[in-house]
Amino acid sequence: MRIIKNVKEMKEFTARAKESGKIVGLVPTMGYFHQGHLALMEKAVQQCDVVITSVYVNPLQFGPKEDFASYPRDLQRDAAMAEEVGVDAIFSPADGEMYPEGFDTTVSVGESLTNKLCGLKRPGHFTGVATVVTKLFNIVKPDKAYFGLKDAQQVLVIKRMVEDLNMDVEIIPVPIVRESDGLAMSSRNVYLTSEQRKAAVVLYQSLKLAEQQVKKGHIDAVEICRQVKEKINNEPLAELDYVEIYSYPDLKFIDKIEGRALLAVAVKFGRARLIDNIILEAQKDVSDSI
Ligand code: PAF
Repeated sequence: MRIIKNVKEMKEFTARAKESGKIVGLVPTMGYFHQGHLALMEKAVQQCDVVITSVYVNPLQFGPKEDFASYPRDLQRDAAMAEEVGVDAIFSPADGEMYPEGFDTTVSVGESLTNKLCGLKRPGHFTGVATVVTKLFNIVKPDKAYFGLKDAQQVLVIKRMVEDLNMDVEIIPVPIVRESDGLAMSSRNVYLTSEQRKAAVVLYQSLKLAEQQVKKGHIDAVEICRQVKEKINNEPLAELDYVEIYSYPDLKFIDKIEGRALLAVAVKFGRARLIDNIILEAQKDVSDSI
C-alpha cells in the first residue's frame, strides 16, 4: 500500500488507474480509524478496483475553541489497518499542501441544509467540509466516494454540493457502525473516561426510545424531542448540545413525523462532543394504501 503525501503524486496515481479503465473509490477521513472507517473501506473495496483513503485533519472545519490540536492522529496505525482491508493508497497531505500560501477559495452549501444541527452549533464547519471534500474530489477524481451516516447532515450537504456543482462522483452513504452496547463508533470516543464511556450509551438508548414511541404511533415531534432530552438530562455526565427532528432528507422543520424524519443528537461528555442519529419512520396510515 502506498502512502502519498503530495497532490501531484496523488493525481498521477489516479490518472494511471483511470488510464487502465479502473473504477476509483475514495474514503475521505480524518484518520484514527475504527470499525466505522473500516466499514467504509470494505464497501469501497467491494465496489471499486482501486481504493484510496484520505487521512487529513482539516483545520478549516474546526472552530477556534474546538479540538483540532488534540484530535487523535496515528498514521502508522491507520496505514496498517487500511492495508489489512485492501486499501491501495493513503493520501495524507500536510496543511501546506492542501492550503498553500495565498489559498483563498471556499465552497459553501446553502442554508436550507446548513443553518441547523451541527451547521448552527459549529459556524463555518460545513464550509470547511465542503471545501476540503471538493479539493479531495479534484485531486483524487474518484468515481465513488464513501461517507458514514453518523454524520447524516454531512452526507446530505455533500450530496447537495455534488448535485449542484455537477461533480462526477457517486456518493455512497454507509450505515452507522456501533459498539455492542449501541454507542456509535467515533474517533472522539478516545476522549471518554471509563465512567463517561458507560454514560455515553444514553445516546443510543434515547434514540431507541424515540423509535419505539414512533412505532407505537406517537408522531408529535416536539413531544418526542422532549422525551429524548429528558432521558439524556437524567444522565449526570451528559451535557446536552441539541436534540432535533427534521424531515429527511430535506431537513425541513416538522411538528409531526409523517414519512421519514431525522432525529439527531449532540451531547458532550467532558471534552468529547458526540453526535448520533436515527431515521424515524412513521407507519403509513392504512387508509393511505387503499
Ligand atoms: O467526516 C469526516 O471525517 C470529515 O468531515 C471529512 C469528510 C473527512 C472531511 O474532512
